[in-house]
Amino acid sequence: MRFRALAVVCLSAILAGTVSCGSKGSQKEIVIGEYGSLTGGIATFGISTKNGSELAFDEINKKGGVLGKQVKLLVEDDQSKPEEAGTVVTKLINQNGVCAVLGHVASSHSLAAAPICQSNQIPMISPSSTNPRVTQVGNYIFRVCFIDPFQGAVMAKFAADTLKLKKVAILVDVRSDYSVGLQTFFRQQFRQLGGEVVVEQSYSQGDSDFRAQLTAIKAANPEAVYLPGYYTEVGTIVHQARELGITVPFLGGDGWDSPKLWEIGGAALNGCYFSDHYSTDDPNPAVQKFVADYKAKYGQTPDALAALAYDAARILADAIQKAGSTDGSKIRDALAATKDFPGVTGSISINADRNAVKPAVILKVENGKFLLTETIKPEAVKL
Ligand code: PHE
Repeated sequence: MRFRALAVVCLSAILAGTVSCGSKGSQKEIVIGEYGSLTGGIATFGISTKNGSELAFDEINKKGGVLGKQVKLLVEDDQSKPEEAGTVVTKLINQNGVCAVLGHVASSHSLAAAPICQSNQIPMISPSSTNPRVTQVGNYIFRVCFIDPFQGAVMAKFAADTLKLKKVAILVDVRSDYSVGLQTFFRQQFRQLGGEVVVEQSYSQGDSDFRAQLTAIKAANPEAVYLPGYYTEVGTIVHQARELGITVPFLGGDGWDSPKLWEIGGAALNGCYFSDHYSTDDPNPAVQKFVADYKAKYGQTPDALAALAYDAARILADAIQKAGSTDGSKIRDALAATKDFPGVTGSISINADRNAVKPAVILKVENGKFLLTETIKPEAVKL
């Protein structure tokens, strides 16, 4: 009986042309899935992302929802383990019948789950994974942020042109596709600009003692250390570096962006720089409204993850509305056609590779604050 009832529901949904069969959500709702790290070593990434997308869907639902229906967001935790990402995304698709997926932040996790979305023809939007390979998985995989060939080049340009550095060290997290990618792209651009990489060392996510690598770096006498890692290790590394007498600045990427960075690294981080997607210092009224609304709801300043998730959620809702359907292939086509969407992280157009092309900001760490130092536009770097 239950099966027959479900079949009738599915059939009427197909006839109405509104809900794809396999959706176990009520037909009164549009069910969207999100996977992220809500616990574990990169937990602030998942929490900020969830907050940002929930704020967007709350606003959308208050204005009447999408296709006249309320949006329901189901969020799954992968515990900061890339191998769990595939499991939770399979559950969202097969058991919850979601019509699209938001996530992940960390590129290695996105790379683990994207093939599942692709093979099920369920569109996936990563708000913030920057490794170029993520969207190369297939034509159902999108992102609303820039990619790492640009991000790595941006920091190389800042190091060479603004800080006038000639010799840097690199310390890479070999377990992270993100970190390894940035190492390559930074190195290439820095050399092109006349700089030299005097030493390269590596670690693995989850390590806690970095003294051997830091001792080797100190011996090479660099003017700065490029450290494209995630905040938990970054905070510890910079702290240990200062204890070993390394006084030069560390330079990083968006993976530094977390309220926990300062908690872990403290004053050791003063005078360090990292590249990121947006700054709360941006005077644009849309950004300031988002910052105020987010603070009112969560009591915290939104980081780049929250801002990118807010944009990704609104772009997805917009695409479903334009598609006029929750059918995966129709949402896909609408996402691919996204042009000049006014995001809080900048104007977003999806290009032929399903990526966004946007400026990056350089932020300086100072007493727990991230100060906007420079904005670098895509046309300012030669890849
Ligand atoms: N870009 C990082 C990655 O691809 C994730 C990240 C984005 C982290 C923005 C912090 C802020 O892994």
